[in-house]
Amino acid sequence: MYVRSLELKNYRNYERLNLDLNKGLNIFVGENAQGKTNIVESIYYLSSLRSHRTNRDRELIMWGKDKAYIRADVEKMFGKHTMEFLLSSEGKKAVKIDGVKTSKVSDFLGTVNVVIFSPEDLKLVKEGPAIRRRFIDAELNQIRPKYHHAILQYNHILMQRNNLLKSILKSPSLKMTAEVFSEQLAEYGSFITEARYEFVKKLSLISRLIHRKITNGKEELEIIYKSASGENMDRKSIKDELYKYYTENIMEDAEKGYTLKGPHRDDIIIKINGADARIYGSQGQQRTAALSLKLSELEIIKSEVSEYPVLLLDDVLSELDINRQHFLLDALKEIQTVLTCTSLNDINEFHFENKDVFKVTAGKIEKFNAV
Ligand SMILES: Nc1ncnc2c1ncn2[C@@H]1O[C@H](COP(=O)(O)OP(=O)(O)OP(=O)(O)O)[C@@H](O)[C@H]1O
Ligand SMILES: [Mg+2]
Repeated sequence: MYVRSLELKNYRNYERLNLDLNKGLNIFVGENAQGKTNIVESIYYLSSLRSHRTNRDRELIMWGKDKAYIRADVEKMFGKHTMEFLLSSEGKKAVKIDGVKTSKVSDFLGTVNVVIFSPEDLKLVKEGPAIRRRFIDAELNQIRPKYHHAILQYNHILMQRNNLLKSILKSPSLKMTAEVFSEQLAEYGSFITEARYEFVKKLSLISRLIHRKITNGKEELEIIYKSASGENMDRKSIKDELYKYYTENIMEDAEKGYTLKGPHRDDIIIKINGADARIYGSQGQQRTAALSLKLSELEIIKSEVSEYPVLLLDDVLSELDINRQHFLLDALKEIQTVLTCTSLNDINEFHFENKDVFKVTAGKIEKFNAV
């Protein structure tokens, strides 16, 4: 699949932009703070109905304006789609696919799939569990229509339970009310946990092969979903386990002030040659593992939806050494890629059948082909 054209109005620092993209490599080059990531962000928005940088649509609207508009024409193996978004400063968004208003997010997610790779992602192995949960969730939101809904519901009910926990020590009669949340939390929580577990199993298989190639067979990568919901990862066992926890530990959680168990506390463990890479991996090993995971994302989406997603590489090339740059760029031949950089030095030597270069200067874009 690929994004054929992109139109922005009053989006971040773009007052008006009309852009034709090719199905190969699209390079956006420019100095800092000119609008490169803003382009990447608007394409990410098509896949997820949100920015990768903020939850607040208001920030995407050009300062001093009250609406922003994004339109994209997308070509897929079986058909073309036009996607339109109108974001308003009161936080409302209107979404259309092929001219028809859509109000259900799940109808919309999956129209275009995107994998984003930015310097932040290089910290995927090194940082705390939240970044790894976000990585899995972003992926599953795109390929499992019900997942997005389950996460929203789970977080909403969890917040209600946590709020109640704060008052329970003073008013123990509220314990009964807290129990009401157990069934729903266990229902959504088990759905989320099982989906993540299945996803990580696939991720582990694919990333092991990719990682072997990048490291010339020197390193074995292994990814394990680490859940507090026990060892048995079928939906029913997880649900029973979570339900038992939520009903039996209300007072303990109240003492702590929040819910201690559930998918919001899970993690993935990344091992290199049997050792936990977060603890023992060198910086280079951690970055290579992050690259393997990102490249696996492309393959997993392809296996789910039968075609490659669009790849967004924001400022990431200069963060990789030459061998990893080669590996990454070689992997992209069949994938529409939007790449940002501040200089063309790293890219010039690579041959691409379809390659366009766009110069970004203060919210204006100029195309030039001579590279
Ligand atoms: N809502 C907005 N309205 C107008 N301008 C905005 C808005 N949000 C951000 N900007 C401006 O957009 C500019 C470009 O941002 P962007 O993140 O795309 O830069 P970049 O080219 O990726 O830079 P870098 O190389 O530093 O990553 C910034 O100078 C920022 O001040
Ligand atoms: Mg940027």
